[in-house]
Amino acid sequence: MDYALERFTEEVKAVIAATGRVPLALIETATPKPNIPADLAFPAFRAAKELKVPPPQLAAELAAAISIPERSLIGKVEAAGPFLNFSMHPQRMAEAVLAEITAGAEGYGRQADGAGKAIVIDYSAPNIAKRMHVGHIRSTIIGQSLVNIFRALGYSVVGDNHLGDWGKQFGVVLASIAQDGRPDAEGEAALEALEAQYSRYAAAAKDRPELDDEARRWSLLLEQGDAHARDLWQWCVDLTMRAAQRNYDRLGVHIDHAYGESFYETMLPGVISEALEHGVAFREEGGAVVIENLSSLPTFLLQRSDGGTLYMTRDVATVLFRLKEFHPSRIVYVIGEPQALHMRQLFALTKAMGYGQGVDLVHVAFGTVFDASGQPLSTRRGNMVYLESLLDEAVARARAVVEKKSPELPEDEKAAVAESVGVGAVVYNDLYQDTKRNITLDWERMLATEGNSATYLQYSHARCRSILRRAAEEGAAVQGDASLLTHPAETGLIKHLARLPEALREAGARYAPFVIADWCYTTAREFGVFFEQCPVLKAESADLRAARLALVAATAHALKAGLGLLGIRAPERM
Ligand code: ARG
Repeated sequence: MDYALERFTEEVKAVIAATGRVPLALIETATPKPNIPADLAFPAFRAAKELKVPPPQLAAELAAAISIPERSLIGKVEAAGPFLNFSMHPQRMAEAVLAEITAGAEGYGRQADGAGKAIVIDYSAPNIAKRMHVGHIRSTIIGQSLVNIFRALGYSVVGDNHLGDWGKQFGVVLASIAQDGRPDAEGEAALEALEAQYSRYAAAAKDRPELDDEARRWSLLLEQGDAHARDLWQWCVDLTMRAAQRNYDRLGVHIDHAYGESFYETMLPGVISEALEHGVAFREEGGAVVIENLSSLPTFLLQRSDGGTLYMTRDVATVLFRLKEFHPSRIVYVIGEPQALHMRQLFALTKAMGYGQGVDLVHVAFGTVFDASGQPLSTRRGNMVYLESLLDEAVARARAVVEKKSPELPEDEKAAVAESVGVGAVVYNDLYQDTKRNITLDWERMLATEGNSATYLQYSHARCRSILRRAAEEGAAVQGDASLLTHPAETGLIKHLARLPEALREAGARYAPFVIADWCYTTAREFGVFFEQCPVLKAESADLRAARLALVAATAHALKAGLGLLGIRAPERM
C-alpha cells in the first residue's frame, strides 16, 4: 500500500511533471537540509543542465508554473536558489496519517514489497548439550527481529534453527554421559552439568588414551544408528530444546524449523562427490577432500582424511536443501563476526558448484558482547553470560524499577511488567545500534527510564495508554477532526509517525533493526515534546481534546507496532 509519505512524494513528482518543463527521468527528489523549513526538495541542477538554463532560473520558473491540485498533501512550493522546496499540507497530512494508523493499528507500516518472494533466515542455532551463550543470544534476538521486519514487508519468511547437533564432539558428549550418568536437573542447570561432565572427560582423556577410544566408539555407534547411542543423543537434543524453548517463549521467539546439522547426514556423500565432479575440490593422497584457491580464499576441507565430515560439509548440504525446499530469493545467516571467513568460503563454494545463481546469500554479522568493565565475555575468561540467567537478572532488576515507579500496581501485574521490561531491556540492548558493533551489558543504561532504552520507550507507550484510560473515565471523545492538529509539536510528531513505513523498508534493505529502534526513540522524544507543549485532557476545546486524544492513540499504536518489530512487548501500564 502507498502510505501518506509516499503519496506526498508521488504528488510532488506529478506536479513538477505536469508543468511539462522537466522530463520525468530527471525528476528526483531529496530530503532538504535540517535548517530548511520544507519537507521535500527538488534540486534543479541536473534538469537545468539538460535544458541549458541556470538552476535558480529553472527553480523559479517551476515554482511559478506549478499548480497544486485540490485536496493535495502538498501545502506549498517555493524556489530557494537552485532548489524547489515543497512543504506538506499539515492538516491534510494529519488526517491522512491518523487515518492510516487507525486502520493499520498494531500492523501499521506493513507493506507488500516482498509478495511472492521467500527468504530463509538462519538464526539462533544453539549447540546441543550446551547452554546458549551471548553469541546465540545475539543471533536469536537479531534473527527474530529480521523475521518480523521481512514478514511486515510482505515476504514469506522461513526461519530455520540450524542446531549444532552433529559432529565429532558428540562422541565425547555420549561417552561422558555413559560414564557419569544423566544430570538430575532441567534447563540451563542441566546443560551446565553436561558441559562440566564434558570438560572433565576431555581433560581426563589427555592422560588416558582409552577414554579417547571410548569416545570414538560412541561417535561411530551414533553414526551407524545404534539404538542406544541414538536414544542418548535424542535425550540430549530434547533436553537442550526444552531449555531453549523456555527462553524463546520469554523472548517471543518462534522459529519455523529446526532441521539441525544432523538432518543433512545422508546428503553429505552427495555434496562431496559433486564438489569433486565439478573440479572445485580435489582428493589429497591422504584421503582428505580439499578446496584450494577458491576466490583467493584460504584452503579449507570438505572431508577429513579419516572420512569424517565437517561443519562446512553440512552447511553446503543445508544451502542445497534450502534452495530446493523453499525456492528463496535470499538466505540470510545471522551469525557472529568470527564466522565471517566460514561464510565467505561457504558462499563461494556453493556458487562455484553452480547453485543459487541469482539467490543472495547474506551474512548478517554481529559484534562481541562486553561486560560493564569493558572485558569481552568469554568462557575462557570465566565471565560468560548465559541466556536464562541473563533474562532472570534483567527481570529482577526491572522488578526493582517497577516497585519504585509503580508501587500501586497489583502483584501479578508487577511481575508481568517486570518480565516485559527486563526482557525488553536485553533485546533492545542488542538492537539499538548497528549489529556489526559490539555491545556492553550495562544495566544502568539498559534499564534507564530516560534516554535510548527499551524502558523509556515502554514508558512512553504506557503513558499514552494511561492518558487514554483517563479520557475514557471522563467520557471524552477520542476521535476528532485531525485537521485541528496544527501546533508545530503536533505536526512534528505526525510527520515522524508517517515515517514508520519508510523506516521499515530501510531496515529491511540494510538488515538493520536499529533503524526501527531509532524511529521508536525519536517517536518517544517527539511525543514528549508534544505532551509538554500541548495540553491533552485540558485542551482549550472539546474538539481539540478529541483530536489530540486521537493523536495520542495513534502514537500508542505506532509505537507498539515499532516495538513489536523489534520483538519488545509494550505493557498497558507501568
Ligand atoms: N551452531 C553454530 C555455532 O554455535 C552456529 C550455526 C550457524 N548457522 C550456520 N548455518 N552455520 O557456532
